Amino acid sequence: MLECLDVLNETLIERGEEPVAFDHDCREGICGSCGFLINGVAQGPERATTVCQLTMRHFKDGQELVIEPWRAAAFPLIKDLIVNRRSFDHIIEAGGYISVSTGQAPDGNAILVGKDAADRAMDAAVCIGCGACVAACPNGSAALFTGAKIAHLGILPQGKPERDRRALDMVVQMNAESFGNCTNIGECSGVCPKAIALGVIATMNRDYLRASWKKRDDMETTIITPAGGSSMGSTLKLDHKPAR
Ligand code: SF4
Ligand code: FES
Repeated sequence: MLECLDVLNETLIERGEEPVAFDHDCREGICGSCGFLINGVAQGPERATTVCQLTMRHFKDGQELVIEPWRAAAFPLIKDLIVNRRSFDHIIEAGGYISVSTGQAPDGNAILVGKDAADRAMDAAVCIGCGACVAACPNGSAALFTGAKIAHLGILPQGKPERDRRALDMVVQMNAESFGNCTNIGECSGVCPKAIALGVIATMNRDYLRASWKKRDDMETTIITPAGGSSMGSTLKLDHKPAR
């Protein structure tokens, strides 16, 4: 698909016209730079495929394709097919670090990781931050992206020391950006080029709520905004003082 745009741009440049601006880097489906709507579908018609890996044989000869940039309030348009996805970076930055002891590289088997945890963490870690989930969601929610980032570190033992703080900070940052709330529609997972499952949103909500409750003893009033529930941005205020 991107090579098709290359040919289009070469033709436009030869004619002295402006080429179509689009993002790309690896062209291997691993960097998350590329992405746009093809005939209204984020990342095109092929399941679990980025537009850079989409081949033209999936379309009929002579078929008309309408390509558009991501449409989401949190991704302002820069030019043509390029949008600003800095809001994703803000969420990642809010996640911070994991604690690692300095010194020699630890033995590979020093921290044992169960097969189930390793599989679940890896399934979430494949998120490339492309933004298709946001573009496909009628609410413009970043819950699948944020859930993947929270899950892939929180599930592993190495990510557990900061698990609570990370979930709180990343969800707070997600809510501070212009993303909408998740109402469990599922479009995000359907278009995700890495086939990330909706379960990461449940993981995010569970981590966030548990971390909120752990903090309750420090606060007279706790404000909880479920990240993936159907509360549509409402806030739940607990008006009791927590038991000491
Ligand atoms: S969850 Fe999927 S669609 Fe969303 S940013 Fe990550 S890879 Fe892209
Ligand atoms: S160009 Fe890197 S994922 Fe498409």
